[in-house]
Amino acid sequence: MTTLVRGARQLLTLRGARHPRRGAALSDLGIVANGALLIEKGVIVEAGLARRVEKLAASRRIREIDATGRVVMPGFVDSHTHLIFGRPRLKDYEMRLAGATYAEIAAAGGGISSSVKAVRAMTATQLEAQGRAALAAMARHGTTTVEAKSGYALDGPGELKTLRVLQELSTRGPLDIMPTYLGAHIVPPEYRGRPDAYIEWMAADMMPKIRRRKLAEFVDVYCDDGAFTLDQSRCYLQHARDLGFGLKMHAEQFARTGAARLAVELDAVSADHLEQANEEDIRALAQSNAIATLLPGSVFHLGLRTYAPARALIDAGAAVALATDFNPGTSPTYSMQMILSLACTEMRMSPAEAITAATVNGAHALRCADRVGSLEPGKQADLLILNAEDYRELPYYFGTNNVHLTMKRGVILS
Ligand code: NIG
Ligand code: FE
Repeated sequence: MTTLVRGARQLLTLRGARHPRRGAALSDLGIVANGALLIEKGVIVEAGLARRVEKLAASRRIREIDATGRVVMPGFVDSHTHLIFGRPRLKDYEMRLAGATYAEIAAAGGGISSSVKAVRAMTATQLEAQGRAALAAMARHGTTTVEAKSGYALDGPGELKTLRVLQELSTRGPLDIMPTYLGAHIVPPEYRGRPDAYIEWMAADMMPKIRRRKLAEFVDVYCDDGAFTLDQSRCYLQHARDLGFGLKMHAEQFARTGAARLAVELDAVSADHLEQANEEDIRALAQSNAIATLLPGSVFHLGLRTYAPARALIDAGAAVALATDFNPGTSPTYSMQMILSLACTEMRMSPAEAITAATVNGAHALRCADRVGSLEPGKQADLLILNAEDYRELPYYFGTNNVHLTMKRGVILS
């Protein structure tokens, strides 16, 4: 079956170089005015000027999808989420609104460790149901590829349970899930006061197991006050790298630790958060291959004022991506659209930069830019038709769902 998407007022192809977009290239959406797309077996055959694409379609039996007057763009690649967490932390939220800090809530038994208790106690079936509902909401808001971290069980059975749930959700589809092992989220109760022993156990036992069973592509660490130190993070990530995992870091979120520089030193795929990054960090990231993944949803939800220095990063030449950081403590949002609005209004990114960061650069942060992130022949037909005639409406109309239709591998999801 061949599908023709026709009538796009603006077709954002994001076509171009195979590497992450930096500097001025972030603003180039590869727009085709009056565009169309031809899709076969879930893969894009042609994307470009309607006249040309429709001529190609003429001789075939086709299903037509009408995008008349609308924007058509690649599906969002949400490259940083904590998808599986059991249940929301509503008590923490209220405590914080009443004045408690993220650290105070954690010290009072809330925070990440309360999610750890919940996830350990839940069955795989319950966790799968929670994950599936979240993925469905994400798809409705335009996300077609999702990275998902473990890290809310921390013990062997719980982390393997989480990663198997992710594998099951990915196999069942429709969204692609790229799994990440975040064993080093916090030190679990069994290892209280013995973080080095915990890291040793993860390196010797968990990581090889996860690698053998192909349960994760990436390994991530939360390097921060109250989590893991720079030296501990280095040791953990070196083991992960030796086993062949791609590396990711929660870097410079609350305290400046030197994590961004470590990510560069270890050739990490991405350094995420970066709210506290300084001039040197920005320069180091700009000269590296690491994707600087910015997560303004967590700054917003925590009611903080210090957003990551997006402008300085872009102007220095860093490859910037945007993601939700979907999690119960700092960023409970399914919506990449909300992230775009925050990126533009709070971090002064342009709408075009934000769209590139949320699609093709997100794909690079997951090493899947050969398959998703842009609308080019040979790539998966993962696309959105917007309730908009100009792409700038996407961040402009904030807090609403501007997605008219989400398509994954040629299949209409919503
Ligand atoms: O990316 N900071 C570390 N991890 C998450 C928050 C996790 C939680 O609060 O449950 C983050 O913001
Ligand atoms: Fe996170």
